[in-house]
Amino acid sequence: MNEYCIKYGLNEDRLPQHVAIIMDGNGRWAKKRLWNRLVGHRAGADAVDAVTTLCREIGVKYLTLYAFSTENWKRPEAEVTGLMELFKEFLVSKKNLLIEKNIRLNIIGSRDRFLPELLKLMNETIAETEKYDPEMTLTLALSYGSRQEIVSAVKKIAEKIAIHEITPENIDEKMISENLYTFDIPDPDLVIRTSGEYRISNYLLWQIAYSEFYFTDTLWPDFNREELIRALKDYAGRERRFGKTGDQVKG
Ligand code: FPP
Repeated sequence: MNEYCIKYGLNEDRLPQHVAIIMDGNGRWAKKRLWNRLVGHRAGADAVDAVTTLCREIGVKYLTLYAFSTENWKRPEAEVTGLMELFKEFLVSKKNLLIEKNIRLNIIGSRDRFLPELLKLMNETIAETEKYDPEMTLTLALSYGSRQEIVSAVKKIAEKIAIHEITPENIDEKMISENLYTFDIPDPDLVIRTSGEYRISNYLLWQIAYSEFYFTDTLWPDFNREELIRALKDYAGRERRFGKTGDQVKG
């Protein structure tokens, strides 16, 4: 029995294996206080800490956080630069903790627009945290867009057809999954979106086919341990049918 599950009143057998989060509301959180949006992102980074720690404690195996979308490059330059700085600081300050807690860092998204310094830090942290069998995988979606991910998977498969390595008949769901950035992680069981928005925003479109959704009005910087526990308890009460009837699932 996991002592933290007992402490927080969570049923260990009904925990999601993979939680994916759309961390929304940093800007509004800052605006309400008449602060710069970047202060909101900084507060958002603290919420990342709290959520990662709790997931590791209770035994959630995969946590995937939408930290920067392909569309976010269109934000004002100062905000983009500030966010890149924050990602760098996160990698530098958390590397040892990730290693100590046996958390593997994984990054999904397109790498071509990141500056070399950030890229180097990403690659180093990924390499240093993948040495051992991890207790948990923390995936950051950075410069990530799901449609672009699917396009890239289709191109990879088409190239194999072009060189006669496979035929179109060989294409199946498994092959598509294996050619996505998420090839080595299972599909999310639970997707959480904060800040009262009810959108998917180009996040893991293929992977969320059978995920459960949890929406909360809480702005991301206010999303704390209690909020996550509430979401997990809500998830524990859901019946996942995967297209079957309720009786089939129970039987
Ligand atoms: C969406 O809120 C949030 C982002 C685009 C950035 C998410 C980044 C963090 C939580 C910072 C730290 C992350 C890591 C991994 C260190 P928004 O800016 O769109 O908020 P708004 O809709 O209220 O304007």
